[in-house]
Amino acid sequence: MIYLRLERISKIFDLFVANDNISLSVEQGKIHAILGENGAGKTTLMKIISGIYQPDVGQIYLKEKPVKVNSPHEAIKLGIGMIHQHFMLVPQLSVTENIILGTGNSWRLNLRQKQQEIAALSQAYQLEVDPAAKVENLTVGTQQRVEILKVLYRQAKLLILDEPTAVLTPPEVASLITILRQLAARGNTIIFISHKLEEVMHLCDTVTVLRRGKVVGTTTTKATTTQQLAELMVGREVVLNLPKSPASPSKVILSVQRLQVADDRGAIAIRNVSFELRAGEIMGIAGVDGNGQRELADAIALLRTVKQGKIELNHPTQAYIPEDRQKMGLVLQFSIAQNLILKAFRNLPFCRHFLLQPKAIANYAKSAMEEFDIRATGEAVQVSQLSGGNQQKVVLARELAGEPALIVAMQPTRGLDVGATESVHLRLLTERDRGAAILYISTELEEVMVMSDRIAVIYRGEFVDILDAQTATLEEIGLLMAGGKKKTQELKPENVVKSRDNV
Ligand SMILES: Nc1ncnc2c1ncn2[C@@H]1O[C@H](COP(=O)(O)OP(=O)(O)OP(=O)(O)O)[C@@H](O)[C@H]1O
Ligand SMILES: [Mg+2]
Repeated sequence: MIYLRLERISKIFDLFVANDNISLSVEQGKIHAILGENGAGKTTLMKIISGIYQPDVGQIYLKEKPVKVNSPHEAIKLGIGMIHQHFMLVPQLSVTENIILGTGNSWRLNLRQKQQEIAALSQAYQLEVDPAAKVENLTVGTQQRVEILKVLYRQAKLLILDEPTAVLTPPEVASLITILRQLAARGNTIIFISHKLEEVMHLCDTVTVLRRGKVVGTTTTKATTTQQLAELMVGREVVLNLPKSPASPSKVILSVQRLQVADDRGAIAIRNVSFELRAGEIMGIAGVDGNGQRELADAIALLRTVKQGKIELNHPTQAYIPEDRQKMGLVLQFSIAQNLILKAFRNLPFCRHFLLQPKAIANYAKSAMEEFDIRATGEAVQVSQLSGGNQQKVVLARELAGEPALIVAMQPTRGLDVGATESVHLRLLTERDRGAAILYISTELEEVMVMSDRIAVIYRGEFVDILDAQTATLEEIGLLMAGGKKKTQELKPENVVKSRDNV
């Protein structure tokens, strides 16, 4: 049975057509993927289904009955629940408070009883969370589970997940996939958005591909390949393999000695880390999320105090692509142009005699938008209105301007589509070959392996080993990431025996 059907949906913002005559159907109990480049219109379409936006044209059918989803409240009543690309939980509130927020009559609220209900729900769906925990203390993986519970608590039958895996670690992704399969097996219908094609092939039954607001194809995952899907999205051939020449490292740009850094709560997050990074090389940092990567990156970007040890930077200009673009990378209510010059607005040509030069700023923004393929109607558009991937491109364009000597890139391709990922990779390789020293931090092991010349594996705040990327294997690094072995130089015979026992 067809659960959801969209008929000729169009949505226009000002003059920009975000959704153009979209028709598609999803069967009950199936997992349906929506694929498309950054800005293709995926989130817009999902917001239409869940009542946040109204379509300008078109009709939505649920079980072949025409419905009008006038508001998110109406969507909930119709059994539609959306889990957003950027989480919408209130950090200061507890899990239970977040889940029940906006439901029922608050004057009759019995928090303890609600907590029990939520504990039961989380058990029934094997979505492990502590109902009393404060959301700000949870990992993103757990926050994701809270978002799902919130939708299930409202008894949604159609679940929409907008890039749920972009912020999850591999084990968290595996657990989410199990949960979604279970939900589908129980008769729920699921729409799943992701830029990770393998994931889509592995999880979903059917796929619809959007390009520039239009449907360009619908197929079953059985009948297609990742290569075909990538090409359908981008509209041209895509190189999924990166052409990379050997590095020729020269002088030391960054030297880190016996570094110790604390996390926000004062606990030691980085202990005794030492390494040198040279011009013209990329050092990757592989590790499971939360092993000190964020603290290390912040410390090197001079945004966090060093408790012990030393960071020596032999060049003043550096770029930092932070992990969380909305909190640290951008000022959302500023325009694209303003965000692009955040670091340079005091300098010529943007500022002359203490006066900002709008023309120079606009011209610069236009060329940066072209170079980085930032898709928007103009440079005056507020960054908050950009699609997620295009927001990331604004951060990249600003940080990579001006030939920085050191680039600290943390998850730089998070949320980017295959084409944009490819161009960021190529761009960083060009920066390397120009002579930049690059620290490439990512929880995606495959990505670290293709990009790096050397790979440091981080585990519980320590570098357990630094390997040559040419010879290192995926299995070897995977093992080290899980805490499998100690640094070779420090291996004593008794430790070797011990670590073998662990494996
Ligand atoms: N409220 C808005 N006002 C103006 N333009 C908007 C608004 N919301 C979205 N757009 C534009 O519509 C287009 C589609 O955006 P949308 O967020 O749907 O893309 P997406 O496919 O989800 O991309 P991504 O993969 O980057 O998340 C973008 O060009 C975006 O700038
Ligand atoms: Mg989106």
